[in-house]
Amino acid sequence: MTALAMGAALVGGCDRKADPSPVAEPADTHELMVGKIEPAAKVYWNAVKYISDENGLHEIMPRTDADWVQTREAAESVGRYADLMLTPAYAQYRGQDWHDFAKGLSDVAARAAEAAESRKADKVLELGGMMYNVCSACHEVYLPLAGSQPPTAGPDAP
Ligand code: HEC
Repeated sequence: MTALAMGAALVGGCDRKADPSPVAEPADTHELMVGKIEPAAKVYWNAVKYISDENGLHEIMPRTDADWVQTREAAESVGRYADLMLTPAYAQYRGQDWHDFAKGLSDVAARAAEAAESRKADKVLELGGMMYNVCSACHEVYLPLAGSQPPTAGPDAP
């Protein structure tokens, strides 16, 4: 293995292609969003849903102990990633609002985890919506800077 290939393996661990964003971004924000935060948030958003179709209203909610644990852990993961966004690796060169958004996400994730811990489906739904609002608030400011489109996933996505 050449030194270059080894370096690439250490950094990405995958065959990430050179894909420079139009504006310089801390290299791994996109990776953190797409690879970690969104998958964790989706688990949380998918935990409780009210779906209405031709057969009536269906309620999706955690049923087993494992379901509830998974829901809580998803919120805890979002919280950990939010805390990571507060570290200099992600926060340097950003404004104070970055800090506020990331801290807001960390706080709402902690409450989201509590809602799952106490097994309150309605609360999980409500906190999922609040979580989404924080994601969107930061994206409104920072996605245009990164030249990205807003993500399509959200609590109401099918
Ligand atoms: C503190 C600010 C901030 C918060 C909070 C935040 N994001 Fe992001 N997000 C960004 C930035 C900046 C980008 C653009 C990164 C890039 O492409 O370089 C991004 C990009 C994304 C993308 C990729 C969009 C695209 O088209 O490339 C997804 C998906 C995403 N975020 C999901 C989420 C979710 C889900 C949450 C909430 C659970 C969230 N983000 C919270 C700042 C944030």
